[in-house]
Amino acid sequence: MSAIPRNTEVELDECLSHYKYVFNPNLLQGQVAFITGGGSGIGFRIAEIFMRHGCDTAIASRRLEKVKESAKKLEKATGKRCLALAVDVRKPKEIEETVDEVLKHYKKIDILVNNAAGNFICDAENLSYNAFKTVIEIDTIGTFNTSKAVFAKWFKQNGGNIVNITATLAYKGDALQVHAGSAKAAIDAMTKHLAVEWGGNGVRINGIAPGPVEGTEGLRKLAGGMADQVKTGIPLQRLAQKCEIADMAVFLSSNAAAYMTGTVLVADGGNWLTSFNNFNMLKQVLPKPKI
Ligand code: NAP
Ligand code: COA
Repeated sequence: MSAIPRNTEVELDECLSHYKYVFNPNLLQGQVAFITGGGSGIGFRIAEIFMRHGCDTAIASRRLEKVKESAKKLEKATGKRCLALAVDVRKPKEIEETVDEVLKHYKKIDILVNNAAGNFICDAENLSYNAFKTVIEIDTIGTFNTSKAVFAKWFKQNGGNIVNITATLAYKGDALQVHAGSAKAAIDAMTKHLAVEWGGNGVRINGIAPGPVEGTEGLRKLAGGMADQVKTGIPLQRLAQKCEIADMAVFLSSNAAAYMTGTVLVADGGNWLTSFNNFNMLKQVLPKPKI
């Protein structure tokens, strides 16, 4: 057992009742972060922890009511500002207008977190053409659309930081995950390509590949009620906390990582090294595709 006390995480999209700082609380003081999918799960916690480090945020996703409700909670818990916006990252025009809104409101963007994603369990044979395309569009194309719009409108002249939230799914070719694994692998490639092209503009681009994270939609959808079994197979013998992924995003966005770009940090408790990946067995035990 670790001697370092950990935060008490909460299952739902609520702020932490108490947060134990790993870094200097002023690390992101005066900065502005734009977080896609920041109204729920890991994105919500990233917004909270950024705000607890002095950062104002803009959070955006398709459900405006959800992001508005989350923004209220975040402002109340942290005393920093949170702008709630509706966007579908698949739509370039919408994302451009959203970036304009963020810039109009805050006059700058220092950090972009590409966190929005969609996923479900399905084997390739039963995955429809549109299902594969949908996940690629949200994850990969959404990440490109958002990065390109923020670069053109702000980072090109002013520099900045991009953090892409991906996954380890492609490392072992996880069963039932060809759509999300392919989408996230493409984002990891994008992290490197954009790091090479935009480094001269003062833009750093890095990624975080979490393993199973407790209290998230991702875990509810992917573990299919098998979270306890998943846990015992992880070398660190537990799931990740949302705030642990958020702390890593603080690190990558801060000057502590000033010379890092084009890198993807894996935060999975060692899971991908040991995770169970027997296609025939998983097909039997995990939820059937809805189609
Ligand atoms: P989540 O709460 O469902 O977060 C996904 C967010 O993306 C939601 O807020 C959703 O909001 C938004 N979104 C989906 N489609 C969108 C679109 N077309 N345009 C704009 N926003 C969209 O799930 P999560 O588990 O926290 O996942 C967050 C990130 O961590 C994802 O990138 C995921 O792949 C990654 N990850 C999660 C785990 C895990 O165990 N949970 C493990 C590895 C990686 P709306 O529905 O309102 O649009
Ligand atoms: N299994 C198999 N196929 C599925 C599916 C499932 N569980 N859920 C959706 N699909 C298919 C649909 O049938 C459709 O294909 P079709 O037109 O050939 O029938 C296609 O995927 C698109 O579905 P739709 O519901 O129209 O897409 P959407 O854009 O409204 O929603 C999703 C996108 C499907 C990814 C949805 O789950 C979502 O919005 N997710 C966001 C939250 C999330 O997944 N969080 C976890 C992040 S790790």
